[in-house]
Amino acid sequence: MNDDRAGEIERLDHGRSGVLGLGTTLRWFRDPLAVMGRLADEQGPVAGFRIGMFPAVLVTGPAEINEVLVSRAAEFRRARAVTGTLWPALREGLIISEGEVHRTQRAMVAPLFTARRVPKYVDVMATRMHTHLRKWQAAGEVDLLAGVQEMMHDVVAGLLIDEPLDAHRDVVEAATRIFDWEMRAMSRPIVAPLNIPTKRNRDFIQDLALVRDWAARAIDARRRNPGRHDDIVSAMLAQRDRDGAPMSEDRLVDEVINLWAAAHETSADAMFWTAYALSRHPAIAESAAAEAIRVLGDATPTAEDLGQLPYCLQVFKESMRLYPPSPAFLREAASETRIGGYAIAEGTIVFIAPYVMHRSARQFPDPETFDPDRFAQEADRSWERLSYLPFGAGEHVCIGSALALLEGQIFTALLLAGGTLRVDRDAAMKLTINLRPKREARAIYLPRQVSSRGRSRIEVSEPR
Ligand code: HEM
Repeated sequence: MNDDRAGEIERLDHGRSGVLGLGTTLRWFRDPLAVMGRLADEQGPVAGFRIGMFPAVLVTGPAEINEVLVSRAAEFRRARAVTGTLWPALREGLIISEGEVHRTQRAMVAPLFTARRVPKYVDVMATRMHTHLRKWQAAGEVDLLAGVQEMMHDVVAGLLIDEPLDAHRDVVEAATRIFDWEMRAMSRPIVAPLNIPTKRNRDFIQDLALVRDWAARAIDARRRNPGRHDDIVSAMLAQRDRDGAPMSEDRLVDEVINLWAAAHETSADAMFWTAYALSRHPAIAESAAAEAIRVLGDATPTAEDLGQLPYCLQVFKESMRLYPPSPAFLREAASETRIGGYAIAEGTIVFIAPYVMHRSARQFPDPETFDPDRFAQEADRSWERLSYLPFGAGEHVCIGSALALLEGQIFTALLLAGGTLRVDRDAAMKLTINLRPKREARAIYLPRQVSSRGRSRIEVSEPR
């Protein structure tokens, strides 16, 4: 460890290993959110524990998280357990790559998603979301998670390849199965390695081939007809690295799959929890609906409208505070190092948990209360940079954060301007890779009532 404060550093107790430590491991796989909360309560911002034989540390304080992700990021790498599991699907794309490959790819892909550039996608997002919301209303009732997942597949397809989703139904189904395979592999202590030909593994390999082949064809079509499409795949084809070279075919395919994976699941979960929180907080839904109706009426938002929808954005941000779609992400100590005042051995698994930090009374007054005013423009938000991390921080910070904020703001405004959504019951949370509801949540989406004088009336329900 290269540090002149090494003398002040304590060893971190990881608890018992072997059979006696099995209890924590089993509890971890059964309910990691509860285990994380308990560890942080008992031990503070740097908490030691074990997963099986492996020493692990849960990091939940803003300063300590900043050490791992930003100020001493070089001493931590992506966790091998994660990169090994996700490699067959994601390969050398941004989500799991590191070092020079990551830096070169990021320098080419990130500029396509800057806050200046993404408003050009508002139309695609708004039109596609609007169509899905109308479908929910026509159906009367919707399985909310399935509904937002379908909607976000359509939005992401629109952004990446500028084509209707219906033409790619088999690809969406394969991509969904691939993600489920990954979720399962990440949230179970033991899974059959890919070289064992179980039915699940054979289907996974077949699905991967189908998705890669589809991505290669989409890239090829755009390469042969430059200028015909205005979408992200075309924009990636036009990117050049420092030496003026384009991305190789394999890297392009990897990035299409990485972007789809990164953009879809997190965003769908964010929309789910936003709709859910609004249905549980009718007074807040009413205020946001008043803003949305005043600005949009029956129209879909344009980029110019967004500046007039600040409260809808606050609602979305607050929903990601209480329900961060990426509640915890992993690193691994690349060498002997430290976090806060604790020595950390090489290879220790490091869980960064915004979920716990976002719900800590040390960071947020009244942390369990859903209160979008925390994000009001006039409020002191100096805490936001360190204590609010739905998109992570440092060299791997989400490249899609500006896009995701627009998606969330547009979704909130369209949902509320169009009507009232009621979810049938409390949705308990579960952690897979993302934050998901434990059980199916059905929702009724009632159209906005227009009174005889032509003014909108907003229907609200009280929480049960
Ligand atoms: C509400 C929606 C989203 C949330 C909460 C979210 C969250 C995150 C988080 C926490 C990370 C960092 C993980 C880590 O440090 O290990 C990340 C990385 C990433 N996100 Fe997002 N994301 C969202 C939407 C998107 C969208 C729309 C895109 C597409 C452009 C995207 C693309 C990526 C990529 C490519 C990375 C890897 C970046 C790197 O390692 O350099 N995300 N995201």
